[in-house]
Amino acid sequence: MNQMNCDISAVLFDEYRIQTRIREIGLEISNEYQDRKPILIGILKGGFIFLADLVRSISIPVEVDFLAISSYGAGTSSSGVVKIRKDIDLDISGRDVIVVEDIVDSGLSLQYIKDYLWQHKPSSLRTCVLLDKPEAHKIEVHFDYVGFEVQNEFVVGYGLDFAETYRNLPYIGILKEELYQ
Ligand code: PRP
Repeated sequence: MNQMNCDISAVLFDEYRIQTRIREIGLEISNEYQDRKPILIGILKGGFIFLADLVRSISIPVEVDFLAISSYGAGTSSSGVVKIRKDIDLDISGRDVIVVEDIVDSGLSLQYIKDYLWQHKPSSLRTCVLLDKPEAHKIEVHFDYVGFEVQNEFVVGYGLDFAETYRNLPYIGILKEELYQ
């Protein structure tokens, strides 16, 4: 048995459920952005797997870029301190931009990212989030596409880590409490 599986107390979303939901979001984006060629900006590191699957579920031409930020360090709760570790490469001024993020916890990272990207004057800026944790919000946050809601539990897999591990689990699960307490 995969050793990482033993560290998971429950599987929340298996591969099939994740892919089914991503296909739905991809269809929505394809319909809403026809003839517009949006730029999808994946937020690293956690958003890399979601972005990779999402772009393949979109049937219109898109461009892809990445923004790397860091807010958590090795802990499990948001410090609210966001650092840009890798900037975007594309010129997004006058373009339609969709931010692709793995999870919204406090909402502070996404707010920071939106404020930052608006400074580059895109013509539109929407957000696509795989997981939303409403109970953890510290500010009012709005997003345009959302995969699933989760409770206030520590989730890993499908890009989400704990101390840089578990990102390669193909599903999203709850990490056993004894591993981080
Ligand atoms: C995670 C996640 C979001 C952010 C959400 O990133 O990918 O970017 O935290 O938390 P918030 O809503 O409380 O701001 P993290 O800093 O853990 O980096 P990573 O994506 O490299 O794992």
